[in-house]
Amino acid sequence: MHPNDPFNAELPSEHLHFGSVEVIAGCMFSGKTEELIRRLRRAQIAKLKVEIFKPQIDTRYSRQEIVSHCENRIDSIVVKDSGNIIVLAKDAHVVGIDEAQFFDDGLVDVVEQLAQQNKRVIIAGLDLDYRGKPFGPMPNLLCIADYVTKTLAICMKSGLPASRTQRIVSGDRLIDVGHTDKYEARNRAYFSPPSE
Ligand code: TMP
Ligand code: MG
Repeated sequence: MHPNDPFNAELPSEHLHFGSVEVIAGCMFSGKTEELIRRLRRAQIAKLKVEIFKPQIDTRYSRQEIVSHCENRIDSIVVKDSGNIIVLAKDAHVVGIDEAQFFDDGLVDVVEQLAQQNKRVIIAGLDLDYRGKPFGPMPNLLCIADYVTKTLAICMKSGLPASRTQRIVSGDRLIDVGHTDKYEARNRAYFSPPSE
């Protein structure tokens, strides 16, 4: 269990009565979704009402599930933009959000509101895009978070811990949904962003 996990037995149980924001951020193939699913499952086991959201943009595997690279999956609601989340999460104790980098900037306020409503909000997303630049609302989400977990992948060139995502196909669209066909995890030494 991660030491920051609020379900850590060492934390007082009163903690659960307050809202909180957790952000799991890192490059591709670093286990973000795996970690999000792990935390959400534990909340489900605790019989808490859990709602999970992902942006409509990510159609890589399934429209109704969040799926990690290890094929671990959990049911989710696909939403067009962050504004839809507040109403749909009305009765939830715990709110999960995957692929947060693809949401609009309004997600930051939505997350604040959910936490104000005493909900535990757990967000996973790419911190950096293929250029090595902060991605969408992620920088602000990292700032407002109570708990931040940075995940590392393994660099495909060096076998060392990797924090960057290399796009291995051509194209300068910021959003280009894909998997190992288009991206590799790299450490700083082997990451080469496109020239500006
Ligand atoms: P993942 O972090 O769950 O592996 O998924 C990241 C998704 O983001 C994947 O579909 C590829 C996509 N992506 C972009 O659209 N633009 C980018 O710059 C990067 C690095 C990834
Ligand atoms: Mg993922």
